[in-house]
Order: sequence, then structure tokens, then C-alpha cells
Amino acid sequence: MKPLGIGIVGTGNIAGGYARDILTHPEIRLVAASDLDPLRAAAFAEARGCRAHASLDGLLADEAVDVVVNLTVHHAHFEVTRRALEAGRHVYSEKPLALRSTEARELIALAAGRGLRLGCSPATFLGEAQQTAAAWIRDNRLGTVRAIYADVSWGRIETWHPAPAAFFDVGVMVDVAVYPLTLATTIVGPARAVRAWGWNLRPDRVAIDGTPFRIGSPDLILAAVELEGGAVLRLTASFYVGRPVKLRGAMEFHGDAGSLALGSFQDFDATVEAGPYDGSYEPVPYVRPPFAGTAWARGLADMAAAIAEGRPHRAGAEQAAHVVDILEAAAASITAEGRPVEVTSTFAAPPLMPWASIPSPGR
Ligand SMILES: NC(=O)c1ccc[n+]([C@@H]2O[C@H](COP(=O)([O-])OP(=O)(O)OC[C@H]3O[C@@H](n4cnc5c(N)ncnc54)[C@H](O)[C@@H]3O)[C@@H](O)[C@H]2O)c1
Repeated sequence: MKPLGIGIVGTGNIAGGYARDILTHPEIRLVAASDLDPLRAAAFAEARGCRAHASLDGLLADEAVDVVVNLTVHHAHFEVTRRALEAGRHVYSEKPLALRSTEARELIALAAGRGLRLGCSPATFLGEAQQTAAAWIRDNRLGTVRAIYADVSWGRIETWHPAPAAFFDVGVMVDVAVYPLTLATTIVGPARAVRAWGWNLRPDRVAIDGTPFRIGSPDLILAAVELEGGAVLRLTASFYVGRPVKLRGAMEFHGDAGSLALGSFQDFDATVEAGPYDGSYEPVPYVRPPFAGTAWARGLADMAAAIAEGRPHRAGAEQAAHVVDILEAAAASITAEGRPVEVTSTFAAPPLMPWASIPSPGR
């Protein structure tokens, strides 16, 4: 298979992680990059041996770009993805797909109308630890799962990110809770209703360069998400509580017959433990040796392979749009002080990776 040419738009903090991981996937090859800041794009491109374009139009005119990878800030996702689809390019976007449900659906319709692929992060459900958890639960090892706990204690972004304002503007649900929401809906099923409450615990912050700013969204959110079939996801999300909290990014799935604890929704080598109700946790063997950390381009590589193989890709836009619906419902519920808000959309659960089967008990 000839590798698909990747053009990265938005060469900020996470672009380096993508560029490094793209090198490990033969299905894809980094060919071009652009950014609102052309100097940043030029430095990024020079370090990675690809072409820099001074504008998005320039990148979209580059015939070597088959797939645009949208790594811009959250607010720009919709517009950049729309323009790339209109230019006839497949798109893989960082999360969220868009900030509004209507925009997410518009992008899906645009891609479908032009026969283009649209994929979206988080694809961390494709990690070895996360696939191990998914395989274990889909194999009914916990019985019916009725309660999921997720902890998103993402801390004070202004202490490490050079441009934190955009993250506080969209908020911790949009920026980080998308990970456990995607994983829980992948493993257990789509959401049906959301109740959420938010607090501004520490509204005044100071950026690394000394600039004071006020956060634009609650920095502590409690949400209860009812999933199809009746399971309830209890989610705690904070841009105040962070390290050294012990449950940073952890998830637990509790079923009639047992429980599974996943050390992180993001790290592919997170601990996976399971135990019977009333018993104690034991390690669950990984479905294959895990990648250390997060392989950022795994969802993108799966989309490239899916294009070649003529099958659906796993990090799909329908699920990403469903997650945007959950985020919108949570925001509406916070405004209405915890009133339940319905979610009606759905998506087909992505299949496990081919390497993610677990041996039957007794074998
Ligand atoms: N930083 C992380 O650890 C991390 C991890 C996973 C996912 N993400 C996601 O990746 C995305 C980018 O995050 P980041 O941390 O790299 O942010 P960042 O602010 O460091 O970088 C974003 C880049 O996009 C550029 N940009 C903004 N609008 C643009 C536009 N319209 N056209 C072209 N370029 C534009 C900015 O100039 C900047 O260089 C976000 O959606 C975030 O949720 C970030």
C-alpha cells in the first residue's frame, strides 16, 4: 500500500507527538504542515523534513496531502475541517469534532456527500490497556455493567501549557472528559441522558508569562451520564484538582459479577485489574505488549488502513458527534442546575482491534 500523505494543520503542543508516532505507521507519511503562525509551521516542518505552507489554502493546494490532520485549537476545528473537506481531503481531527452538535452533523454530511473519510480523536480506546478492558467487558467477564466511575483530575493547565486560555474557555468536559466519555460509550453503549453540576473553584489564574486571566468555564464538574441499557457513568472532571491526585484519569467498570479498574483512559500501558464482586483485584493480562504512553496517531493510522481496505474506520465521526451531543447536554444541564437532559443520537460501536482478543476462561 502506498502511504497516504498527511498534512498537519496546527503545529502546536501536540503536533510533535503526532509527528513522532506517524513515523511508526507504514500506512501514513507526513508531507506538509501549516499553522496560523507561519514561523511555527516552518520550524516544525524543518525539524521533520516536510513542506511548510504559509496558509491553509497553501496546504490544501498541495497535491501530496491526502489526509488533513486538524490539530488546531478547539474553536478552529469546525472551520478547518470544513475547508479541508470542501477541498476534497479526508480529515482526521483532534477532539472535539466541533463545539456544537449542529456543526458536527454538518461536517458528517459534508464528508458523506463527497465520499470522504472523517475521523476524530480521542482514539485512546485503541490502546492496549483500553482494548484489554474492552475485550474483557465485551466478553461478559463482569456480567451486566451497571456503574462506571471516571476521574478527570486534569489540574491547572496554566502551570504548563503556554496557551491555556483556549482550554479554560471550552472547559474540562470538552477538553478532557471526552476521553472517558468516548471509552465508556465504546465499551458499554451510547448515552441517553445527562445530569451535571459545575463550580468555579478558582476563577482567577495566571499564565506562565505572568498574564492574569479569568477562567471561562467551571473548574469542577460532577456529571451523571445514563447509558443505553441503564448503566450510569459517574464522572468527576476538574481543571483545579490535579497531581498528585491518585485517581488521575482512572476508570472503574462495575458489573453484577465483578469489577474492572483501568489505571488511565489515556496511557496505553495503564494498569488493568479485575476481580469478582466481594473479591480483590488481580492484574488482567494485556491483549498484547503495550505501547508506553499514548500513540497519538493510532486512530489516524487505522483510518488510513480502513481507506485501503474499504472498511469503516474505528475512530469514527458518528461517535465523535455523539460525544459532542453529550457535552452539549452536560452544558445545558449545568445551566439548569442538574436537570436531566436527553441525548438521542447513536453510533455503531467500533470493533476491537484484530489483535485484541482474550483467551476463553480455562484455555
Ligand atoms: N496538548 C496536549 O497534550 C493535547 C493532547 C491531546 C489532544 N490535544 C488536542 O490537540 C489540539 C491542539 O492542542 P495543543 O495543545 O497542540 O494546542 P496549541 O495551542 O499548543 O496548538 C494549536 C496550534 O493551532 C494553531 N491554530 C489555531 N487556529 C488555527 C487555524 N485556524 N489554522 C491553523 N492553525 C491554527 C495555533 O497557532 C497553534 O500553533 C486541541 O484540540 C487539543 O484538545 C492536545
